Amino acid sequence: MHIEHRQMSREEHLQIINDFGMQLLYKTTINEIVWLIAKSVIAQMGFVDCVVYLIDESGQHLIQKAAHGFKNPVDETILNPICIEVGKGIVGTVAKTGIPELIHDTSKDDRYIVDDSQRLSEIAVPIIYENEVIGVIDCEHPEANAFNSADITTLSTIASMSSIKIIHAKTLVDLQNHKANLEKQIEIRTKELTSTITSLEKSNQDLESFAYAASHDMQEPLRTVVSYLQLLEHNEKSLSESSKEFLGYAVDGSKRMKNLLDGLLEYSRVKSSSAAFKLINLDDLMILVKADLQVSIRENDTIFKYENLPTVFGNKTQIQQLFQNLISNAIKFQKPDQQAIIEITVEEKDAFLEIRIKDNGLGIAAHFHDKIFGLFKRLNANRDYKGSGIGLSLCKRIVEYHNGKISVESEVGEGTTFIFTLPKGEEV
Ligand SMILES: Nc1ncnc2c1ncn2[C@@H]1O[C@H](COP(=O)(O)OP(=O)(O)OP(=O)(O)O)[C@@H](O)[C@H]1O
Ligand SMILES: [Mg+2]
Repeated sequence: MHIEHRQMSREEHLQIINDFGMQLLYKTTINEIVWLIAKSVIAQMGFVDCVVYLIDESGQHLIQKAAHGFKNPVDETILNPICIEVGKGIVGTVAKTGIPELIHDTSKDDRYIVDDSQRLSEIAVPIIYENEVIGVIDCEHPEANAFNSADITTLSTIASMSSIKIIHAKTLVDLQNHKANLEKQIEIRTKELTSTITSLEKSNQDLESFAYAASHDMQEPLRTVVSYLQLLEHNEKSLSESSKEFLGYAVDGSKRMKNLLDGLLEYSRVKSSSAAFKLINLDDLMILVKADLQVSIRENDTIFKYENLPTVFGNKTQIQQLFQNLISNAIKFQKPDQQAIIEITVEEKDAFLEIRIKDNGLGIAAHFHDKIFGLFKRLNANRDYKGSGIGLSLCKRIVEYHNGKISVESEVGEGTTFIFTLPKGEEV
């Protein structure tokens, strides 16, 4: 076996490093880099064989990534990569210490591990990145004293040039994996969301058509019940005292039933209203609301505090229902014998107006704040405070139909503020 590389001049060494550097510029994957080391450089240096190892994820093993010479496999594929434990043998020692090894006669070194046949010279240099060994370049030669310190220097230079490239390539792969992973997750999430939205829309539609059908279709039988009850009332004289009392309850019940059905029907109609949106001055609207609620306002002697209310853009009937329910609640859910003070304030929020209706009434405990906007949710006994529990769900639906939001701030005994947004009038 010839060992002419030993006669290589300093210029030849520099030439090899230079050629390697030029080729390395165009390599982007780890595979390309390790094969460049194994093949071209080692061929140029006239070494007999060379293996490039990289340390695996665990940091415990060196895995063969490329090889040239006796161990050269076909087509840049390694069928059974050699695996060496860090710390074992000469290569393992270099991985552990980070110090190159130059062995002139392996038969005298008991760390030497024979694989296919004993080769007397060995040179192993670490590939180091930021003080950490990431791999080892290992070359062997059948004859003793085949390598010298110039070989170590050249190989170490090649190792350090490669290390940065290997880390860059690895980072790129990690980034690509991360990106692919993120994209996959986004895709899964989007699918989940889409299907949730679809099923929500479906159940909303079901609920709406149910509410409409129930409230609409039940009006007729209820009317029949009411008219027969009225007939009975007209013939009161023929009734016993207890029958009269029962009749009173039945009339009461059917009135409540009628209110519920009316409310439900209104609720289910919010989104199907064909009335065009228009400018609504809230000062004017409040005059109508107060006229409708005049009986309870007078009974309670309610005080209103607001001035120069602005104009909103919306469906007039619905906005009136919204204010009417919030103000009737403010009067109704009042401490016994207390005069209600209702304050209305408005603040501009981009294309919307944020309206606050504040009262000095009973207040609502925090854990009910979300619940009160649900259909039929009531916190007080019907005998004390009449109502069907539809008002606030109707308010929420009306506000949302106008692309706004509604919420409540309240503390028991401290009064309640309803806050909602509606489209500004003058934007249109
Ligand atoms: N301003 C308020 N102060 C204290 N509690 C309130 C106030 N507004 C609403 N609530 C509570 O929230 C519940 C739901 O209100 P909502 O307007 O939906 O129903 P209601 O007034 O009882 O019935 P309806 O409005 O359908 O006639 C009320 O029963 C009451 O317990
Ligand atoms: Mg109400």
